[in-house]
Amino acid sequence: MNDRRAGTETESCGEVSRDDVREFYSKAAVATQESLCCPVNYDPSDLSHIPSEVMDISYGCGSPVNRANIAPGEFMVDLGSGGGIDCFIAAKIVGPEGKVIGVDMTEPMLANARKHAELVAQNLGYNNIEFKHGFLEAIPLDDQSVDVVTSNCVINLSTDKEEVFREIHRVLKPGGRFVIADIISDRPVPQEMRNNHELWGECVSGALTLDEFINYSKRTDFHGFTLKKDYLWKVVESIRFYSYILTAYKPVPVEESCGPGKVQVIYAGPLPAVTFKNMQFPMGVAVEVDGDFASQLDCHPYRDMFNIIDSEEKPSDDDSCCG
Ligand SMILES: C[S@@+](CC[C@H](N)C(=O)[O-])C[C@H]1O[C@@H](n2cnc3c(N)ncnc32)[C@H](O)[C@@H]1O
Repeated sequence: MNDRRAGTETESCGEVSRDDVREFYSKAAVATQESLCCPVNYDPSDLSHIPSEVMDISYGCGSPVNRANIAPGEFMVDLGSGGGIDCFIAAKIVGPEGKVIGVDMTEPMLANARKHAELVAQNLGYNNIEFKHGFLEAIPLDDQSVDVVTSNCVINLSTDKEEVFREIHRVLKPGGRFVIADIISDRPVPQEMRNNHELWGECVSGALTLDEFINYSKRTDFHGFTLKKDYLWKVVESIRFYSYILTAYKPVPVEESCGPGKVQVIYAGPLPAVTFKNMQFPMGVAVEVDGDFASQLDCHPYRDMFNIIDSEEKPSDDDSCCG
């Protein structure tokens, strides 16, 4: 477990510190802050087991859990869990065999989330949620223990984003993924705006551009990105701030990769061709690659995009094909 950054309470970026953010969200935990409420369309059927008061202190900008393809039995961690909305939605999906942990640094948010977790557990008939005090920059969890990390409108608030991506990478199992809803700006936010405490707390001036977000993630060895724009949230000083859902995977080491090395792969479309690792894959054309590369293409998120041709494959024994 990493507690290297846990004690650095005054961690700051320009003139904004983590203490400023905590103060901001301590107030938002006890009284709804309208300026923080982005439009999020939760599916009402996902909310039926959740007390309605949770929505009053829900300050997310998307619905990462709905985009995370979470399976029963998985272990999900939500960073900056606030009042707990995404943890409560996920608790039903992962079921009694799965586990959900929410991490937040603001005690009044944690107190609210823990109070509502009891009701959620009663409604579900099992208790698989825990809320832990902790920082995005020092996640209070073991290495390689988590299947999926989610976060809803929080990475922009961190004053040390490099450390956040390192920590997400550390706690994910090989092949694990992050699914992050966050505010993304269409160009870099100038330092003057970054120093504005109010705009930082409102999830505006700490926002990254897509390029910055991808670079932080790539530096920490994530791959297989998908970037989905949800909506334009605000325009401040002519900078456009969008809500996005961003997904990426932690690589699987070659010795643990799925399937033996295979040499021919066929890109399945729908584009006429794609380029990956400096190789061209025209749709429908067999291309020879080395075994390690084929194994990578046989894993998420590429698996559905490529057909792996195994030269050792035997015809199916099942003659019911025509029946
Ligand atoms: C915009 S709110 C989002 C809350 C929740 N995800 C939701 O959708 O309602 C941000 C939350 O992240 C927490 N937070 C911000 N920066 C953090 C950090 N560096 N470490 C831990 N929690 C943090 C705040 O305390 C707050 O509860």
